[in-house]
Amino acid sequence: MADLAAPAQTETTPRTLDSDAVRADFPILATTNRFGKPLVYLDSAATSLKPLAVIEAVDAYNREYTSNIHRGIYELAERATTAYEGARASTARLIHAREPGEIVFVRNATEAINLVAHSWGRHHIGRGDSIVLTEMEHHANLVPWQLLVQEKDGDLEFIPVSDDGLLQLEVFEALLHLHPKLVAFTHVSNMLGTINPVREMTEMAHAAGALVLIDGAQAVPHLPVDVQAIDADFYVFSGHKMLGPTGSGALWARRELLEAMPPFMAGGDMIREVHLRRSEWNDVPWKFEAGTPDIAAQIGMGAAAEYLMATGMDAVQAHERGLTRYAMEVLVREVPGIELYGPSADQRSGVVSFNLPGIHPHDVAQILDRSGICVRAGHHCTMPLHERFDLAATARASFNVYTIPEEIDALAVGLREVARVFDS
Ligand SMILES: Cc1ncc(COP(=O)(O)O)c(C=O)c1O
Repeated sequence: MADLAAPAQTETTPRTLDSDAVRADFPILATTNRFGKPLVYLDSAATSLKPLAVIEAVDAYNREYTSNIHRGIYELAERATTAYEGARASTARLIHAREPGEIVFVRNATEAINLVAHSWGRHHIGRGDSIVLTEMEHHANLVPWQLLVQEKDGDLEFIPVSDDGLLQLEVFEALLHLHPKLVAFTHVSNMLGTINPVREMTEMAHAAGALVLIDGAQAVPHLPVDVQAIDADFYVFSGHKMLGPTGSGALWARRELLEAMPPFMAGGDMIREVHLRRSEWNDVPWKFEAGTPDIAAQIGMGAAAEYLMATGMDAVQAHERGLTRYAMEVLVREVPGIELYGPSADQRSGVVSFNLPGIHPHDVAQILDRSGICVRAGHHCTMPLHERFDLAATARASFNVYTIPEEIDALAVGLREVARVFDS
């Protein structure tokens, strides 16, 4: 079992994870459920567990230097400002941004997409303009664009998904002949796990004159991301899925774009000068950070970025790829009739959505819960993608840096128990 999950040691995989050491960093893994069963957390795509380094960073802000940022002249406020801006620098380093000023802090990926839709979208999308999305988008990267094109009388077009869960790039090529203003797609599907060819798609979109927004919510926690190499225009992600606190997230965009965009929310901190009838905006990125942000959460996100970089994103990806391969093999071998969705393990991140024949995923999740196993059940905010596969719902197991093969074995045993309960 263990050798299947362990990535091959070659000269190109310099670091691997010490799972015992990693798991010791996550205090919640020492807890048990109401039946005394240890936690088997397989819902990391919804939100990740938090390591001590993040918990302690948030705690230190609350205990030792609570104060508002950017305004105070006293020591505590300077400490808070330094920590908050330090978190921005760490976040920028994690995704290889050119500079921290290209990182706008937001509450989550959803807010980042809404920011772009309101600020950039309302000024660039007009009557008859089209935006190209994909059938595999999370609702966060669909509904804001629906609202925008309804308001502006524009159009949405969709890159279809093949039966094996891949984007049909030949259709994308054809859609680009419509000269869309924007192409927005997910880096990694939160239901199929598919890793999309973001660099190639960005190049294709740019050649057709479109800007590109990439939803990196399921990518940044799991793979090395280099926004300069990808060369998109906007890249969004959430802190809480990358080991950081809820209420933290980021929008990356090239400085020139951010400078040309009008503010999204208005109020304190996003201004340089205010008069009764007009105001001047603060510099980027603060122009987009109106009001007091979730200072503690963003500091925690910075600690999460540091934790991931210290672990090594190559090592994280290799670990999760090994687990995914292992999970797909074990589940098919050990759970009769299980249906898995999405591409092969080498084309996906650590997400495995499945169904047991004739058993609703809610029942699956509820029975697994008795054994301390947490999986997601439902449409995972991808209703159109479920419709595409003619599915009402799926159960989903998703992995992270702290997941181990033994937890996948526990899932397989748990699923056999679910089938037994429904058989009897
Ligand atoms: C691919 C993808 N995009 C966007 C989101 C939205 O993230 P948040 O709820 O943190 O805004 C999610 C959350 O599950 C996701 O999986």
